[in-house]
Amino acid sequence: MTSTAAPANTPNTTNAPNASTSNSSAPNIGPTTTQARKADHIRICLQDNIECRDVTHGLDRYRWIHHCLPDLNRDEIDLKTQFLGQTLGSPLLISSMTGGTEQAQQINYRLAAVAQHYNLAMGVGSQRVAVENPGLMGTFDVRAIAPNITLFANLGAVQLNYTYGIDECRRLVDGLQANALILHLNPLQECIQPEGDVNFKGLLHKIERLCAQLPVPIIAKEVGNGISGAMAQRLIAAGVAAIDVAGAGGTSWAKVESERAENPIQRQLGLTFADWGIPTAECLVQVREVAPTVPLIASGGIRNGVEVAKAIALGADLVGLARPFLQAACESEAALDQLVELLLAELTTVLFCTNCATPAELQTRSVLRQD
Ligand SMILES: Cc1cc2nc3c(=O)[nH]c(=O)nc-3n(C[C@H](O)[C@H](O)[C@H](O)COP(=O)(O)O)c2cc1C
Repeated sequence: MTSTAAPANTPNTTNAPNASTSNSSAPNIGPTTTQARKADHIRICLQDNIECRDVTHGLDRYRWIHHCLPDLNRDEIDLKTQFLGQTLGSPLLISSMTGGTEQAQQINYRLAAVAQHYNLAMGVGSQRVAVENPGLMGTFDVRAIAPNITLFANLGAVQLNYTYGIDECRRLVDGLQANALILHLNPLQECIQPEGDVNFKGLLHKIERLCAQLPVPIIAKEVGNGISGAMAQRLIAAGVAAIDVAGAGGTSWAKVESERAENPIQRQLGLTFADWGIPTAECLVQVREVAPTVPLIASGGIRNGVEVAKAIALGADLVGLARPFLQAACESEAALDQLVELLLAELTTVLFCTNCATPAELQTRSVLRQD
């Protein structure tokens, strides 16, 4: 992949610069609580062991049934994927992560360049900070770098209980020319955060109203604790167009917030809940049982293309990775390129060795057995 699409302030050295790096074209970024939190999240997710302790995504409970004589030319395998009316190069999603600081902007630019090159879908991190300070919208806006990608705006659903409504959501979507808005549901994370917003009362009704008013589809997403079949059903009935289960087994937000704790009780609270949640594989099975056709994203602990393929075989249309993309983006453009190439090669190899010509065929054949 070349870096020609990246603007002058996109990092092209091996490490993403830290937030204090001066940059003439950077937005006027003064420290706010939300911005400080964003910087903490990147630092902690890069440095510390913040994956779930004992719980796994559950995909390890399934084994592939190898096909020794595929009736395929591997080089004709087609990874193209349809999602919410868009055609993607493959079923990979760069999951929602960041924005709001100069470092975050540079990470978003790098992720967007690779998304544009491979026609991947991409989400940005929570844009709450851009409502607080509209001058920060540019730290999320990657359209100059990725004019053609399927791009998802992002906001915590709980903000609908803290003065945010249709106007703010419209601004977030318009600011990115986004194809959909992700509303993330993160009750556990808010409980562990020192500054957490914990009034979740009546949110489903507000989500329903927003779904009726917003001109783009809304995707309901967790952040690593999973969405059950029953909750997916209620969200879909409220008008949500797609579900991202973001199940347990990968990045543990209880652990991340525990690292930011301001006192020993908060720290321990986060550690106690390190493994809380519904494993990703379990969410997929549950959601597909109750909603066979809803556009479905798998994420939470996915770390290679074989796991991407397993998640698709269990019913996902799109598969998201967050932390692996963050790590690669902060290493170099080459590392990011290599990560995508490897994921695509692994996925293609699974398709070939299960005699599937497309990702969707994984769902029509008996390719997995449960241990
Ligand atoms: C640094 C970082 C920041 C994140 N910020 C957001 C966010 O603002 N909004 C959101 O919906 N999810 C956010 N997430 C959660 C991811 O989108 C994903 O659901 C979760 O990390 C599980 O995926 P993983 O195990 O592949 O990391 C963030 C993840 C990371 C690593």
